[in-house]
Amino acid sequence: MDRGFIYINNSNLINNLNFLKVTTKKELCLVVKANAYGHGLEWAVKNAKKFGVKWFAVASVDEGIQVKKVFGESRVLLLAEPSKTQLENIKENVLDLTVYNESFIDALIETGDEYSVHLKIDTGMHRLGCPPEKFNDLYKKIISSNLKLVGICTHFPMADTDVTETKKSIELFEKTILDIDLTDMLLHVDNSASSLYNLENSFNMTRVGIAAYGVEITAVEHKNELLPIMEIKTRISNLQLRKKGDAVSYGKAKTLSRDSIIATAPIGYGDGYPWNSFPDGKVIVNNQFCNLIGRVTMDQILFDVTDVNVQIDDEVTVLGNSTDGKLNISVSDIAQWNKTIEWEILTNMSKRLERIEVE
Ligand SMILES: Cc1ncc(COP(=O)(O)O)c(C=O)c1O
Repeated sequence: MDRGFIYINNSNLINNLNFLKVTTKKELCLVVKANAYGHGLEWAVKNAKKFGVKWFAVASVDEGIQVKKVFGESRVLLLAEPSKTQLENIKENVLDLTVYNESFIDALIETGDEYSVHLKIDTGMHRLGCPPEKFNDLYKKIISSNLKLVGICTHFPMADTDVTETKKSIELFEKTILDIDLTDMLLHVDNSASSLYNLENSFNMTRVGIAAYGVEITAVEHKNELLPIMEIKTRISNLQLRKKGDAVSYGKAKTLSRDSIIATAPIGYGDGYPWNSFPDGKVIVNNQFCNLIGRVTMDQILFDVTDVNVQIDDEVTVLGNSTDGKLNISVSDIAQWNKTIEWEILTNMSKRLERIEVE
């Protein structure tokens, strides 16, 4: 092992997809944007296909094309209106579009081509989506045009923290689409968090990201059978004896309170391991937690191994389980040290770390 490896567990993805399918009883649309939340887009599509997932959601036309290259017959939903310069590319690669602006819908109609579209309603997120009062006009415009209306959707702002707010959005969504013919229409409103408690069968597809990758985030207690997919392991690359009163790494941010053995491992923020992991962060070496002892640098981290029996090349667990299975560092732990969210930790894991598939 030279630097670090990201181990990606194939069977845990299948386990998670199965749990989500059984729980939601809806068509799964796997969100694979941002390199499948850092896990590898091709890997995610290839394995989800084996499980029977047909729908994938992406944030860019490029990502959509990557999905189609792996799984030509898949349906790929672009989650936001792209630049109009991409329309030819979208047609050629048969991508589904999320639409909400009249000017964009007009531009699609002007092409005379049959794009598949999903009309998005803003029910409270206030990011993308048509205002509910504009929905009827846009709906009529689309169904009387060359466009094919495949789905109607929305997105929740507080699905992971506030069930009441989410219910309000659902009510507004249902009221807005009350008078229209929903035959063969895909209705998709949920992300991972709400998928686990919004079990209404009036919706028939769910866009799942973080839960499929094994991170449980929801506002409601439930049976959790999700398994983490990503583990990050590296190795001890340097050992040094330092005296009480010394300080290591940039900024000399922490003075050692005792004579210490300091280990270095070749992973840093250039690999996506976040800079703010110091001072709260830890790694696991030989089944013991070791505290970070200086600032994270671009290519290295430093940690205190004074109380652990170690040698150069010993394995360092940055994310995942200790060898004896008794200790764990989760994505949520790293997010907490960094005062950020789990999505950011996963999506930032860079391509510099080699991904290795395990069963
Ligand atoms: C529109 C939309 N739907 C679904 C998702 C999936 O969210 P989650 O990862 O919480 O399941 C996202 C994620 O950013 C999104 O932007």
